[in-house]
Amino acid sequence: MKIISSKKVKNLDELKSFASRKGFIFQSSEIYGGFAAVYDYGHYGAILKDKIRDAWVKSMISRSDIKYLDSAIFADPRVWEASGHVESFDDPQFDCKSCNSRFRADHVLEEFGIDADKAPLAEINEHLNELKSQEKIKCQKCGGKDFTDAKSFNLLVKSNLGSPTSEEIREEDIVYLRGETCQSIYLNFKNYLKSMRVKPPFGIAQVGKAFRNEIVARQYTFRTREFEQMEMQYFSPAEMTAELYEQWKETRMAWVKEVLGLPEESLGFFDHAKLAHYAAAATDIKYKFNAFGCEFDEVEGIHNRGDWDLSRHQEFSGKDMQYTDPQTGEKYIPHVTETSAGLGRYTLAVLDNSITIEELEDGSERTVLKLPHHLAPVNYAIMPLTKDEKLMEIVEEIKNSLIASGNMVEMDISGSIGKRYRRQDEIGTPRCITVDFDTLQDNCVTVRDRDTMEQERVKIEDIS
Ligand code: GAP
Repeated sequence: MKIISSKKVKNLDELKSFASRKGFIFQSSEIYGGFAAVYDYGHYGAILKDKIRDAWVKSMISRSDIKYLDSAIFADPRVWEASGHVESFDDPQFDCKSCNSRFRADHVLEEFGIDADKAPLAEINEHLNELKSQEKIKCQKCGGKDFTDAKSFNLLVKSNLGSPTSEEIREEDIVYLRGETCQSIYLNFKNYLKSMRVKPPFGIAQVGKAFRNEIVARQYTFRTREFEQMEMQYFSPAEMTAELYEQWKETRMAWVKEVLGLPEESLGFFDHAKLAHYAAAATDIKYKFNAFGCEFDEVEGIHNRGDWDLSRHQEFSGKDMQYTDPQTGEKYIPHVTETSAGLGRYTLAVLDNSITIEELEDGSERTVLKLPHHLAPVNYAIMPLTKDEKLMEIVEEIKNSLIASGNMVEMDISGSIGKRYRRQDEIGTPRCITVDFDTLQDNCVTVRDRDTMEQERVKIEDIS
């Protein structure tokens, strides 16, 4: 059937409703009214996210110079003092005095065209006071106009281990849920030198959960309090970092286009004017989200972290974090080029780019998830025309053979074939296979393409 026009999602509500209806993403604790900024991935969402993660891991560790790590979430709390997170991992926030709603001051100022990213609190309060005196700021929840001053709000999530009850939490039992996954890469740097016989330049990659006490929680899975990072730290002599930084920018952007299929025109680099406490240079890969009104938002950061982290861990642990060159005997602390991607953000970007609403020549509309084929949660849907025993036997055979060759297969046996096609289009299944009564005679099935909707008779043995 001819496609007359095609469009993307127009806002976040449309994306959210699609993702929940089709089993990709659900709000956490929905039956209790929803838990802010925490999300669960349903069957299809979890498979899609895993496929993105696996593709990232493969792209990293199939290079012989990058090794893999899966570290624990808990670490010695001194790690977070050394990393600078206890002292400087802050966002400025202020509260509405009427309803206690909390706002991120730099984001509010940004709405008034004021760049307060990483600005000192005094400067932020000066801007806020001016806007407050003109009654320009209004609470988004209750409409109130009376606010507290902005304060620093540490993003580390605090917990405790070892204290028997919450009333008795001892200072020494305080732990932090990791605010970024890369710190445990630095903690294991020496282990890799010893056990993996690597020498700079080399990298360590890992994927895992990170936790942040985000103040504002209204951007769906883009900004969550529990999320997954895919981080790679590349250790090298200082003089190599400028070139490596450029190389990694290129490598990562190529991966985003080729593997995630995000279009070139929706992607860009945005250099940081103001740097985080650890960075000597930083740029973001941003994607233009249709659901956020075609605004560019950060999906990955590429940072030159210098020798900040290893030096600080050397200072705080008292352990030598230097590499000794076996040839020259030279000792030095390697510098780090970091690539730090958000798995949830890339999953959201892929969904945002793939959801396509098409108007067809018969006046009907179809929603099709145009995922790159290798990311589709289901590779093939098999549909018998009826539940006839003979057809079901063939369906079983095809299913088993496709599963044996590594495919995710779904059987869809209810409703008209047209309705089943539409269901599979919505979850992005690239091929639907229909088994009908002619199959019993000619050993052929109908294979239907998700994007063109074209159908072809194919011999069963030629399917895969
Ligand atoms: N180790 C460096 C680091 O953590 P970052 O810019 O704070 O740098 C890196 O985070 C990436 O992690 C971001 O580009 C984003 O994709 C993801 N990320 C950060 N905070 C997030 C949050 N609250 N929710 C979801 N993803 C987040």
